[in-house]
Amino acid sequence: MTLRLDYSNMMISPGGVDQKTWGDAPKQFAAAKRGFDALRGTGAVGFVDLPRETKLLDQVSSFASRARGKYEDVVILGIGGSALGPIALRTALRPSGWNMLDEKARDGFPRLQVLDNVDPETIAALVGRLRLSRTLFIVTSKSGGTAETMAQFLIVHDRLVRDKLDLSQHLVFVTDPKQGALRPLAERLKVPALDIPPNIGGRFSVLTPVGTLPAALIGIDVKSLLSGAGEMAKRCESADLASNPAAVYAMLQWLADTQLRKSIAVFMPYSDPLRDFAGWFVQLWAESLGKKRGDGTSVGSTPIAALGATDQHAQVQLFMEGPADKTVTFVSVRERATDVKIPAAFPDVKELGYLAGHSLGELIDIEQRATAGALAKRGRPNMTIHLDRVDAGHVGQLMMLLETATGYAGQLYGIDAFNQPGVELGKQFAYALLGRPGADDAKKEWESLPKGDSRWTV
Ligand code: PA5
Repeated sequence: MTLRLDYSNMMISPGGVDQKTWGDAPKQFAAAKRGFDALRGTGAVGFVDLPRETKLLDQVSSFASRARGKYEDVVILGIGGSALGPIALRTALRPSGWNMLDEKARDGFPRLQVLDNVDPETIAALVGRLRLSRTLFIVTSKSGGTAETMAQFLIVHDRLVRDKLDLSQHLVFVTDPKQGALRPLAERLKVPALDIPPNIGGRFSVLTPVGTLPAALIGIDVKSLLSGAGEMAKRCESADLASNPAAVYAMLQWLADTQLRKSIAVFMPYSDPLRDFAGWFVQLWAESLGKKRGDGTSVGSTPIAALGATDQHAQVQLFMEGPADKTVTFVSVRERATDVKIPAAFPDVKELGYLAGHSLGELIDIEQRATAGALAKRGRPNMTIHLDRVDAGHVGQLMMLLETATGYAGQLYGIDAFNQPGVELGKQFAYALLGRPGADDAKKEWESLPKGDSRWTV
């Protein structure tokens, strides 16, 4: 039940990391680990300790057991790190169209919808089709003030009030214990509120109630999720590079980017349940590592989500013969929840006959190995994360592996992986345009910008 990272195809010659470079890696990792541990020591980084946090798990479990049977829909209002983790968990652990199943097939658990945007078409359609009297809205915001989430909340609040529904039965907040507007609002509206620990930011928060509350509400085994994460956290604490999968992952991606000019990191599971996991990883890697260092240098590799085998018919041509600026991380799954035999028919038709007797699981797995081998043959470095199966324990392991690797990569790049100053200016401009108090400076700056010019518009 242990995840394995096979990085043989990162060490290929030519194209991969050479022995001399890898020989220096343990020393570089030791320095990065010292930096990461020092940061943890200050209390600034909390995600690694979540698997040991029993208080949050108890809160989540008791809320979920009180909610059992009460709701047919749970809707998350949130965006970015407050939405992508729950989406990844739902797709991975409640696959095969969970939201389309009827209540009996869902064993009485609710559907889970996650907004993750403010497109009026989606929100109007969703709110229009929900039975509000049987819906629970989880308002998730670490800062407790994100414009998109607050707008979603205001719309839902208005609908609940107009329908004279008891807010305390239809709303729950997941937010910082102190900062932001949601916490005092919870008291004012007598709405229950669960904590996101202060030292855990959005994209690292999937194992807090941000992810565990909706997961528990739809019957996902949250205990196994956390225990898988805990198992991986232990492996990723090792000071020995060779036995620490997060360290190896971070080192390889950093070396590939900074020494081999492979500035694009493709993440490609061969598994439909892990399709949205790739989106979660993209945000984690991009928002954490795409930064300006103290000396003004811009750093970070660009993550791209792909899906096998589907993308063999879309992006793989680019990975194989386009610019040699990518690494590919495959995720391969040994046992699938179901397998389907390919029936034997038309033995005389070359394109069909050879498939007889194989299964779809075999086909997708062989395609992954073939693509990895083909990339290696062309000097394109890649690695494969092997999972026995996609269950809560393995998903917890995978999440902790990638979060810790992101933390180590932040140290290697010499940046703070846990902030996101780059999104601030856009937010301030939006506040200025919407008339939020305190945005006067941003308003002036906005007005001084060059505006759209008809000469450059077609
Ligand atoms: O990872 C992050 O910190 C961000 O993507 C946030 O999750 C996102 O901006 C939403 O923020 P909040 O949870 O404060 O509403």
